[in-house]
Amino acid sequence: MRIARPRRYLMCPPAHFRIAYSINPWMDPRKPVDPALALLQWEDLRDRYQALGHTVEVLDPLPELPDMVFAANGATVVDGRVLGARFANPERAAEAPAHLEWFRARGGLEVREPVHVNEGEGDFAVTSSWVLAGQGFRSSPLAHDEAQEFFRRPVISLELTDPRFYHLDTALAVLDDAADEVMYHPDAFSPGSRAVLERLFPDALLATEEDAAAFGLNAVSDGRNVVLPLAAAGLYAPLRERGYVPVGVDVSELHKAGGSVKCCTQEIRP
Ligand code: ARG
Repeated sequence: MRIARPRRYLMCPPAHFRIAYSINPWMDPRKPVDPALALLQWEDLRDRYQALGHTVEVLDPLPELPDMVFAANGATVVDGRVLGARFANPERAAEAPAHLEWFRARGGLEVREPVHVNEGEGDFAVTSSWVLAGQGFRSSPLAHDEAQEFFRRPVISLELTDPRFYHLDTALAVLDDAADEVMYHPDAFSPGSRAVLERLFPDALLATEEDAAAFGLNAVSDGRNVVLPLAAAGLYAPLRERGYVPVGVDVSELHKAGGSVKCCTQEIRP
């Protein structure tokens, strides 16, 4: 029997969401998005979290920042320490100070403005033993050292190699943070990083390319309920076999920007 632990999430509504530029292979500015549908899908995701007993805090969206809905990228919070983001692409740079200001105004947490490029929880995944950290497309490996020093937790550096899976949270999801259980798509990683993952997580659920491309690894788990896109159909049965409860949501509009469930969800870990 899996045990859910109530979480605190930070989300940002897609009020200004559109595909205004292309900074990952999924983004095609000629592809229309339906802003009203994007907002409905986001509200449904928020409502699911609340129905599961989680708390959702909301960051005000800013115009001219169409990717701000991907709140996971704005910071990483571990043990009450907030490591701000520093974006690789100028298009998203102004999101970082918005997150820093929000955390400073909220109070109660130690906030650090980072020196090195890191895209928040897009590239940092937290389990009880480690902080897993992605590099290769966005976050700098120097940010991994910075995170280790700031969080005082061992950081495991992993190299991403497939441009479709440009953030760690498109290639790997934490299922049970307390028990160090994850799922991931092996082909998204370099051979060395794959070997590291096999060593740390010998029993991990391995996702197919099809489920990874459906953003099935962009999932949010509370230790029992795993919220993931409906389209990642191949993951539901193996998750159930392991005692998890898959909760499917339709986030098709956000997928057009190369994001999904986890990208919209930053966890505030006290
Ligand atoms: N369009 C955004 C970008 O390319 C999507 C971010 C997705 N977020 C994530 N945590 N993977 O930066």
